[in-house]
Amino acid sequence: MTDTSFIPRPAVAPSYTVGAAASLFSSYVVASAISASHQLGLLDLLHTEGGTDVATAAGDRLDHGVVRGLLDTLVWAKVVEVDGDRYAVGPGFADVYAARGYFYWLVKGCGELFSIAPDVAAPGQRVDDFYHRDMRAVAIGSRLIGDSEVEPLFDEIIGGLDFTTIADLGCGSGQRLIRIAERDPGVTAVGVDIARGAVDLAEKSVADAGLDGRVRIVQGDVLALRPEEVFADVEVVTCVFMGHDFWPMQRCVDGLANLRRAFPNAKRLLLCDVVRTPGAASPETTTIFTLGFELIHDLMGVYIPSREEWLEAFDAAGWELVRERHVAAPPSGILFELVPSASRSA
Ligand SMILES: C[S@@+](CC[C@H](N)C(=O)[O-])C[C@H]1O[C@@H](n2cnc3c(N)ncnc32)[C@H](O)[C@@H]1O
Repeated sequence: MTDTSFIPRPAVAPSYTVGAAASLFSSYVVASAISASHQLGLLDLLHTEGGTDVATAAGDRLDHGVVRGLLDTLVWAKVVEVDGDRYAVGPGFADVYAARGYFYWLVKGCGELFSIAPDVAAPGQRVDDFYHRDMRAVAIGSRLIGDSEVEPLFDEIIGGLDFTTIADLGCGSGQRLIRIAERDPGVTAVGVDIARGAVDLAEKSVADAGLDGRVRIVQGDVLALRPEEVFADVEVVTCVFMGHDFWPMQRCVDGLANLRRAFPNAKRLLLCDVVRTPGAASPETTTIFTLGFELIHDLMGVYIPSREEWLEAFDAAGWELVRERHVAAPPSGILFELVPSASRSA
């Protein structure tokens, strides 16, 4: 007798199995693969060689199945193309390589927090250390994000300033101070960061660069700095991609005002950050980074100020804006060049 309990039906696939919803799903996997391929050196290998095979890319250190899986995932997005055993850079490679810092920041730096978003949504759950981010990855991602426009702008501005001591607040990887100290042997520098992962990374980078005597990294909260010997001679203070951590408004005004006391000889404050974007998000207008940057700060309970709110805070804290430079990468990035207001004492 025939078993009629299982009757195959004609395959009519639900609409979500291909098309927009399927693409969203696959995009998430591709973003993860881009981040992993960056950390494992696969993107650098493809960038320098133009192509590779799994055995070469994996070498003795990586599992061949994982490397093949990552490369096959990148094929979906045309980041790489496959022909037999050979993977070559595809039409999407150049942009993805240029944007690798954004993906690394998103996936490795912030992925854990995005995955527990529902668990940190209720006010009762937002106490003590209610989230974790990989701050080493955040620091590396931020450095890559700043490389194309922000750092050249800093070099231009700093090149026009006369100083011997500089401080970087929320210094992350420490790369900016290392570059500045390498360029000018007369400069000494101090970096401050609150996160152990960033401080460890910066200290190692400073030691690797042989700058131990001239670039010092200290762990601390830049909102609560006291006047100390190591800060006394600082003439230029920089602060990149962390200014939003000063907010909300009164905390920011107090923190900025405190910088004038902690750095009594500061002649310039160069503060660069990504500001809040007005209007609704859409695939046509929303730039890379924007959605991730704004949502992750919502999850952390950190307010992202608009440009106008920044101007209000500078004024209230006794810093006068002398110039403002807008960058396209990261989108909505602004570098504010400030001097202590002559009319206000520290
Ligand atoms: C997005 S990363 C930017 C790193 C670096 N400035 C750069 O441009 O690549 C922000 C850094 O600010 C640090 N940070 C955040 N709040 C801070 C605070 N209150 N005091 C000191 N560092 C802080 C974080 O630990 C992190 O390393």
